[in-house]
Amino acid sequence: MSQPDSDQQALSPDATTAEASDYGVGEFGVREPGLRERGVYIKTFGCQMNEYDTEKMFHLLSAEYDPVSEPEKASVIILNTCSVREKAEHKLFSLLGEMRELKKERADLIIGVSGCVAQQEGSKILSRVEAVDFVVGTHNLSLIPSLVARAKAGERSAAIDYREEWEELPSEFDSLPRMREDGDIQKLRGYLTPVRALVAIQRGCNKRCSFCVVPTTRGKEVSRDPQEILREIRLKARAGAREVMLLGQTVNSYGRDLSPRFGFHTLVRQIAEIEGITRIRFTSPHPVEVRPEFIELYGDVPQLMPHIHLPLQSGNDRVLREMNRNYKVRRYLDIVDAVRTRLPSVAITTDIIVGFPTESAAEFEDTLRLVEQVRYHAAYYFKYSRRPNTVAVNEYPKDADIAASEVSERFQRLDALQTQISSEINSSLTGEIVEVLIEGANLGQLSSKKGRIPQNTLVELSCPDDLVGETVHAKVVHTSPRGVRAELLSTDG
Ligand code: 5AD
Repeated sequence: MSQPDSDQQALSPDATTAEASDYGVGEFGVREPGLRERGVYIKTFGCQMNEYDTEKMFHLLSAEYDPVSEPEKASVIILNTCSVREKAEHKLFSLLGEMRELKKERADLIIGVSGCVAQQEGSKILSRVEAVDFVVGTHNLSLIPSLVARAKAGERSAAIDYREEWEELPSEFDSLPRMREDGDIQKLRGYLTPVRALVAIQRGCNKRCSFCVVPTTRGKEVSRDPQEILREIRLKARAGAREVMLLGQTVNSYGRDLSPRFGFHTLVRQIAEIEGITRIRFTSPHPVEVRPEFIELYGDVPQLMPHIHLPLQSGNDRVLREMNRNYKVRRYLDIVDAVRTRLPSVAITTDIIVGFPTESAAEFEDTLRLVEQVRYHAAYYFKYSRRPNTVAVNEYPKDADIAASEVSERFQRLDALQTQISSEINSSLTGEIVEVLIEGANLGQLSSKKGRIPQNTLVELSCPDDLVGETVHAKVVHTSPRGVRAELLSTDG
């Protein structure tokens, strides 16, 4: 599951296990309302926080619009954007070019831009691209229905004001049909309540990693009310979710801003008591915020899966300091050891930036050595990208950038190494019986399903539709660096 192309997937820093594409992001089309007038298409870029926001937008618009899987079937198209790296932004503007063409054929089509680029650029997007009807920032999602209504009346607008309060889910969420009782599984799978439910517990970020744009696009760190989080998870569990993925930029600092304070570890333990939730994951913890209570969760809470995504960024202390990460390699390795001691089966994954300004060849070698030492199950690596309003972009002039050819070479070497490690780790599963939570269809492959083992490794297997949402045992028959293929053995009641 290594990430061969740094730009394929834009993830918001430290808020990811970097698997947005596993979900076929943007393909939320399960209901096909014959009438185009009622169709909304949302294309999601970037991290799982964006995916979560996409779900929220579907909810907010659900009184009037049904999700569709293709822009051609929609009367409202929203591009939910990412600005963590420059390429993601470029993609947006080329897509808007295509939208312009679509709009030429259908003047009544409404086009909106949401997410981090919307927050960052605001009404500049309206002036730059005439086809865009509204821009909505990361703190104003609840205004979407009115922005769409205004657009319908011919008014173009941008809503990007910063808000202190947390934007809670709309109340329609309470009436979410119960999947099993309705027997209408397809209607909700992959749309409102996937087997793996994303749940934001925090927004924004108070860290100042020098490369990172998120503090400007998502604002300061705000923890969500624990009771609201628990309520959302209970509802989603009742609607068929079995796994919960908690989202935040620094999940393990959750609750410090609440009064009274509320520990992340307490939240995880309370979630473990919710009926129906068999797996808990979160992304991402920050090494600096790791406390003993956090480490103790591993091996102690059976629902907490043996997987930790712990962003490293660099394996060299000087570079880490330049990045303002506030930890040293030694500290990082101590955390890895501590988690492994408690739970030897734990899989560790990470994020790494290649070619941060001033990173020397020898310093990059330190990163390679660290990757070898930790033996990550998977890693996501990114070529450094200059981002507006970051510390790094102000500190290092463009000509201080490492030459593109050098960055590419480092990138290839890291990719080769990590691919080798992932491939070895996965191939050691050959012939093993693994426990798989079946998440749903394996996109693009008829009759094949996808799921994950506790360590988060992706599994592809054939099984009947009614096993979606169930945990099954399967035998691994084929492996690759990105995942494994398995054959169904039995189902657990
Ligand atoms: N350039 C390259 N990669 C970046 N990331 C965040 N900001 C940048 C940037 N400016 C990476 C980090 C982070 C992941 C989600 O994206 O590795 O953990």
